Amino acid sequence: MVQSMVTAAQNDFSPAEKSAVYRVLRERRDVRAGYLPQPLDDVTLYRLLDAAHQAPSVGFMQPWRFIVVRSEALRTAVHGIFARSNVDAAARYSGDQRSLYSRLKLEGLLEAPQHLCVVCDHESDRGHYLGRHSMPETSIYSVVCAIQNLWLAARTEGIGVGWVSILDPAAIKKLLRIPTTAQLVAYLCLGYVQEFSRVPDLERDGWEQRAELAPLVRADYFDQPYTPAYDTERR
Ligand SMILES: Cc1cc2nc3c(=O)[nH]c(=O)nc-3n(C[C@H](O)[C@H](O)[C@H](O)COP(=O)(O)O)c2cc1C
Repeated sequence: MVQSMVTAAQNDFSPAEKSAVYRVLRERRDVRAGYLPQPLDDVTLYRLLDAAHQAPSVGFMQPWRFIVVRSEALRTAVHGIFARSNVDAAARYSGDQRSLYSRLKLEGLLEAPQHLCVVCDHESDRGHYLGRHSMPETSIYSVVCAIQNLWLAARTEGIGVGWVSILDPAAIKKLLRIPTTAQLVAYLCLGYVQEFSRVPDLERDGWEQRAELAPLVRADYFDQPYTPAYDTERR
């Protein structure tokens, strides 16, 4: 009997390349302060957009649409929309948590020399609905994959990205003339920064800490803990 030989794909990443990938995953940060005024040139911006465009997408539909916002008037208007939403958000907290919330810097909309609004075109029939008959929301998940690609690529270029979700999506859609059929997925600040913080700002400022990974992993069933055979202290 002929034994079929199944071998793992040859690993064509060098150890240095591998560790660079893990490093960018660890050192990517959400940036809300410290943007430099110099705008991204088109070549660099397109490199980031092309990184986003390599993302996986359901049925290969590529539903992402990018709006590069450079106009100062628009950026100021978006900041106004943020300020109004942030008053409402702050009102949801009370006591010490409210005063901490009010001290947090949650966007860099006026400092960042350009914004990137990322939209999902649900209506596109590209991909011929593969995967979307049962899970239509996967078009949005695909756009989020593209955003993460851009976020990681930006980190390797010394470019900070800050995701601003304290916004009224209807107001942003109206301002940027986004059709009602499309969904606003992310509003991002984008710009060169002098340095990246070592820890998330929200951790530094005492809002939240990184959870331990081990309790988030289950074996076979949701209610069954997974006891890994690796050193859980190592990150
Ligand atoms: C979907 C999404 C929305 C976010 N919205 C905001 C936001 O409105 N304001 C903010 O300061 N950070 C926002 N963030 C950034 C998170 O606060 C940040 O990712 C988290 O604190 C971990 O920090 P790190 O990204 O630097 O690792 C958002 C992140 C994601 C993924």
